[in-house]
Amino acid sequence: MPGKVDRKVVAIYPGTFDPITNGHIDIIKRGVNIFDKVVVAIGHNPKKQHMFTLEERKDMIRHSIPDIKNIEIDTFNGLLVDYAKKKGAAAIIRGLRAVSDFEYEFQMTLMNRTLDVTIETVFFMPSEEFVYLTSSIIKEVSRYIDNKENLIKFVTPYVLQKLKERLKNETQSC
Ligand code: COA
Repeated sequence: MPGKVDRKVVAIYPGTFDPITNGHIDIIKRGVNIFDKVVVAIGHNPKKQHMFTLEERKDMIRHSIPDIKNIEIDTFNGLLVDYAKKKGAAAIIRGLRAVSDFEYEFQMTLMNRTLDVTIETVFFMPSEEFVYLTSSIIKEVSRYIDNKENLIKFVTPYVLQKLKERLKNETQSC
């Protein structure tokens, strides 16, 4: 169409992804169905102790979603809204799993909106099998479960392998 500007609508999906789970992948797939590009952005939450480094988390995301097009995987420091602006993003994607997520997400959304009114936050609900899934629960269960293969419902084979390697190294260094 003459005069039509081909503007790609970019969204940021931020998180700690320590590690990425199938619940995150569910949200990413919903995001790419709506937006032209989704930037999966690994941020730093000072309240959390990480099992994997930023580079390891990035590597796990890359290997877990090799077939999804229109994705960029990146890391960021500082304020999320500043990063979103730098990326030319119109939206921030967050997953909303249960009512317990609501208060925290509400607070974060309103703060981000106060910091930058031009960036909208949108929420996707994951499939019900991922509603109670968190990265922390995966890390905790993977330490104690006898048959780690049972975790394959919740993480990709690549992430499962990395979890096993990390736990083996931890046991050896004790
Ligand atoms: N499937 C599975 N798990 C999911 C999920 C889904 N669909 N959606 C959320 N989760 C889990 C995550 O695994 C994570 O679990 P964990 O607590 O065990 O690690 C938890 O729910 C939510 O954490 P996450 O989505 O990783 O975000 P966060 O609350 O740690 O925030 C940032 C991370 C980077 C987005 C946030 O700290 C940030 O914006 N930092 C930049 C600084 C800034 O701008 N601060 C002001 C914000 S108002």
